[in-house]
This record gives sequence, structure tokens and C-alpha cells, in this order.
Amino acid sequence: AAAPMLTKLQQDCATPLPVLRNVAASMSDDIRAGLAVDGGSDLKMILSYVDSLPTGDEKGLFYALDLGGTNFRVLRVELGGKDKRVIAIESDQVSIPQELMSATSEELFDFIASALANFAHKDGNFPGKKGEIGFTFSFPVKQTSIDSGILIKWTKGFAVSGTAGKDVVACLNEAMDRKGIDMRVSALVNDTVATLAGARYWDDDVMVAVILGTGTNACYVERMDCIPKFQGEFSPSGRTIVNLEWGAFSKGLPLTVFDRDMDAASINPGEQIFEKTISGMYLGEIARRALLHMAEEGSLFGKSMPEKLSMPFVLGTPDLSTMQQDGTEDLHTVGSVLYNVAGVESNLSSRKIVLEVCDTVVKRAARLAGAGIVGILQKIEKDTKDAIFGKRTVVAMDGGLYERYPQYRRYLKEAVAELLGPETSQNIVIEHSKDGSGIGAALLAATNSKYGRNL
Ligand code: BG6
Ligand code: GLC
Repeated sequence: AAAPMLTKLQQDCATPLPVLRNVAASMSDDIRAGLAVDGGSDLKMILSYVDSLPTGDEKGLFYALDLGGTNFRVLRVELGGKDKRVIAIESDQVSIPQELMSATSEELFDFIASALANFAHKDGNFPGKKGEIGFTFSFPVKQTSIDSGILIKWTKGFAVSGTAGKDVVACLNEAMDRKGIDMRVSALVNDTVATLAGARYWDDDVMVAVILGTGTNACYVERMDCIPKFQGEFSPSGRTIVNLEWGAFSKGLPLTVFDRDMDAASINPGEQIFEKTISGMYLGEIARRALLHMAEEGSLFGKSMPEKLSMPFVLGTPDLSTMQQDGTEDLHTVGSVLYNVAGVESNLSSRKIVLEVCDTVVKRAARLAGAGIVGILQKIEKDTKDAIFGKRTVVAMDGGLYERYPQYRRYLKEAVAELLGPETSQNIVIEHSKDGSGIGAALLAATNSKYGRNL
């Protein structure tokens, strides 16, 4: 009785070419509408104030803080100037304690400042004299300059009280004062922006950056004269990076009852619908809800009702990936993941259905992400004189979902190729830029250095 439920799920999640085309076109339209006026579409189209990209000449010692993925990271990057030399990178990372995600703003920023202090101590540079920081803060921030910006709202399960509406650099500065750290933030950037800057350091053809991790987002290089709402802003290069905050996109997505229920139960119902459909924080949960339904209504696992399967978020996206890499004949790995994670006893036929469910949820996600990327590329192509489709153009990707889910990568690339056709898609290079954002943030701190030539 579970089989027809699977068929229904597959139908509801289907992403044939017309659906993808429509999503790509809506993405392009929403980009334009969001560039025209604030609030013009679901997409915030946030000006990054990054208007000169790394040249390779950046030199000196810089720190980077990276908050917003699974891990919080502190890095020290030594840039060697000419010939794009990164002399050394040191880093520490800690996973964000669950309770901190719903703590107070002071508690969160004290945690960040303490981690920075510990790191600088180990470095023998405490209180961090003249340390300059590139602060990657991966949430929607209304930038007010390259080194200040107001948190619009939290996303990805963060519910820290008292930060929304505040300048996050001021919050960090206050915490650094409390800890006696003498450092300053030279650049505040979104993770997509840091990734773009980091990837551009090595490759001049990078035009777009996408994060597919806990959350998801994209940014790209736009011409100032294509941004009506920023008339009067100045950029010496005539270009700037714009952060879409595409997690908030919502048009034309094939959604299921499981998506709607998950959204309704979330801490931000009605928000971040694209993110909830395609990013790592949610795919396991969508699959769990579908499997629970099949277990309860379709006896997927026989008569026994696995209690643990009713626990929200018990099944993680990494579990889906582990199961989908199972190459054994009896689907042994699928069986043990189900048992260990959700207390589920399964046989070969139920394991096969479980795999189909994973594949359905992941395929939809990856193909929609691919359509989103094509939407950005088509917007650039149409509105830019020096078109990009006729030459090599690089999309820099990062995030745990992209990195650790081979099927996701494959489906995403397939969708891009289907949408663009064989000739154009040959020119579009989708490249994993691992941890580019750490170096990227340091590079942007260097470009925007407060002390002129650093160290
Ligand atoms: C990392 C970046 O590589 O990817 C982060 O440095 C970004 O800035 C992250 O947020 C996404 O990570 P995750 O843990 O959400 O996959
Ligand atoms: C969320 C954040 C966004 C970030 C993305 C990827 O969507 O709002 O700022 O870039 O996650 O980390």
C-alpha cells in the first residue's frame, strides 16, 4: 500500500523541463523586480558594497570570522601579494551549540568574541593589536556600508533574541570590548559574497557564487546601471556584487503536503520557501515526513510503528546521502541507517522504497537549484552587453550539501544542461570552491583595510 503513495510523491515532486523553465524565468523576473525597488519581489537583492574584487596584490595578515553554517570558524590568513600567494591559513572551527541558536544576542556575540580571543591567544597576538577582520555573517543583512549592516531576520533555525534590527558589526565590537580584544571589522559579507571573492582570486571568469549547505543563497556580479534602486551609489568599477537572498524565492515550486506541514511547524512559517525545498537543513525532514506517512497509512515497515520516526529532524540530509551511496545488494547500509537513526526495522522491499523517497526529494531540490542558477545566468546574459553565454563563465559553489551529496551535484548539473542546451552549457563551469569564503573574507578585509597597508 506504500507504492501508490510513492507514486503520488513522485508526481507532486516532478520537475520536468517546463517546470524548470518557469522557475528560471521567475527567478530572472524576481531579480529584476528586486533590483528596481526594495520590496519589489521575494528577493531582497542586497547591495554588498563590494565593488572591487581581489586583484592578487593583497598583502598582510588578516582574520576571518565565519558564522552561519554548521560550524563557526575563525581563520587567520596571510596573504603574500603579487602572484596570488596565500602564505598560510590557520583555522579553528567549532559547531554551534544548539542552545546558542536561541540565546540572547549578547550571549551569541560573546561566544564569537571568546573564540576569536582564544585563537588570537594561541597565535601570540592577544589582544589582537590592529587585527583586521573579514566577518562572514550568513544571514540576510541590510548592508549600510562595507563594514556595517543591519540584521533583517534570522534564518536556518537561528532564533537569537535582540539582534534583528541591529548592526551586527556593532554587536561584535561591543562583545570584543567586553573581552578586551583590540581588533576591527573591515568587511562584513554574506557567505555567498565571500565565496565569490575567494573564487575570483584564482579565476577571473567567476560571475556567480552559490551556497548549498544548511541554507542556500546566491550572489553575482551586476552592473551598477542595471540597479535602479541604487541610483546615486558609486562604484569605481561600475560593478558590484548583489546578494539575492534567494532562499526567500517562492514562485512556481512543486510543493507537497509534507513541505506545507514542515513549513507550518517551522519557526518561520511562510518564509524561506525555496530554502526549505532545496537546502540541507530540510531535505532529511521532508523525507522523514513522507516516510512517516507511508509507515502510518501504508504499512511501509509492516505493523511495527517506529516511534523515533515521529521525531522532527531525526533524519538528517547526511543520512539520506549515506543511504543513497549504498552499493550492497541487500541495501545493508540503508537498513542500518534506518535502524540506528530512526529505530526502523526494514526489509529489502521497504529499503527500496525508502531510497526512492530520498531520491525524489533530492532530485527535486537539485533540479530546482539548477533552475535558479540558470535564472541568474539568463538575467545577466539578457541585460549585459558583453554577453556571458558565448564564453567561459564560472559559477562557484560551496556548502556541505553540494560537497557531500554526489547525486545532488549530478542532478543539478543535468538540469542546468537541459535548460541551457549542450552548446551553451559547455561554457558554464560549475566549480566547487571549497572554503573559498574564508580566504574571500580575508581578501575583502585586505581590500577594505582600515590601516592602509596591513603589517
Ligand atoms: C562554508 C562557508 O564553506 O560553507 C560558510 O565557509 C558557509 O560561510 C558554508 O556558510 C555552508 O556551510 P554548511 O555547513 O551550511 O554546509
Ligand atoms: C540563508 C541566509 C543567507 C545565506 C544562506 C547560505 O539563506 O539567509 O544569508 O547566504 O543561508 O548560508
